[in-house]
Amino acid sequence: MSSNRRKKHRIKKVNSINDCYELYNGVKIPCEGFGTYLIDDEDDAIRAVHTAIRMGYRHIDTASYYQNEESIGHAVNSCGVPREQLFVTGKVWNSDRGYDQTLAAFDKSLKKLGLDYMDLYLIHWPANPKQYREDWITINQKTWKALEKLYSDGLVRAIGVSNFTPKYMEVLMETAKMRPMVDQIEYHPGLMRDETITFCAEQDILIEAWSPLGRGAMLKNETLAKIAKKYHITVAQLCLRWELQKGILPLPKSVKDYRIRENADIFHFDITPEDMQAIDSIERVPAKHNPDTVIF
Ligand SMILES: NC(=O)c1ccc[n+]([C@@H]2O[C@H](COP(=O)([O-])OP(=O)(O)OC[C@H]3O[C@@H](n4cnc5c(N)ncnc54)[C@H](OP(=O)(O)O)[C@@H]3O)[C@@H](O)[C@H]2O)c1
Repeated sequence: MSSNRRKKHRIKKVNSINDCYELYNGVKIPCEGFGTYLIDDEDDAIRAVHTAIRMGYRHIDTASYYQNEESIGHAVNSCGVPREQLFVTGKVWNSDRGYDQTLAAFDKSLKKLGLDYMDLYLIHWPANPKQYREDWITINQKTWKALEKLYSDGLVRAIGVSNFTPKYMEVLMETAKMRPMVDQIEYHPGLMRDETITFCAEQDILIEAWSPLGRGAMLKNETLAKIAKKYHITVAQLCLRWELQKGILPLPKSVKDYRIRENADIFHFDITPEDMQAIDSIERVPAKHNPDTVIF
């Protein structure tokens, strides 16, 4: 793998939804994204993305698995904001792993989106030894090679992984020309992936948080509710701000206008170091899936 110089100063304090983190290849990525999983109704998806863009989001996260690429692409293409001001992420699903299959899947997704390029393309889940025995390594390496090809062909501005722990990233890097620029993982108060966070910080890989609200489950936590009350904010806003203050990029999803707005309104307060610590310390909750044991 080429030795890109590790820079550790790319995570700055963000003050607005238009502020960006900078990936190690210099690409700027808006610091909060709009999640679109489980918005499969066409009208809902178009309306939600239009609402999000109207409220300032410039970063949309989708995947072929979500079966909403046509609607998301339609919304992006009809929202009135120039394409180059928007950041669109896609993901290659598990059934499309491998070099040729990944290239074909990307092509299909790009056509469904109605776009000329994606800003970021991710491997959705690593192939694991439980499901693929000794083949898991080559499957992941070949899939990654396809992402590098898309990057060198200029069809994507950045490439990365999702749900990869250090074990999976290390084997990719054995044959990779470049390391991932992003790792998108399940992350929220009560679920802090310390090993992955440390590895990614060392490698200057940006962490994106999926289920940044614990898919709604963290919103009833009493400690979080008590802290949020002090700042006159909601627990959802507290979770998202806590992630931003850690240099992590949250991807909240909602189909409700007032929540889409609420989730974007997280730049007018700072959580104190003491409260950050208190949030870090809340009771741990289990992850939805373990990359080592999933068989989908
Ligand atoms: N890479 C991966 O493997 C992976 C896996 C899962 C998700 N993701 C990405 O990450 C995004 C976010 O994750 P997620 O959708 O699982 O969970 P999430 O954003 O943590 O939570 C979404 C849930 O919380 C509710 N909600 C949103 N804002 C709220 C607020 N302010 N107050 C109260 N409830 C609120 C939503 O309901 P309403 O819609 O009814 O408001 C929805 O039920 C996804 O949409 C997807 O883009 C990636």
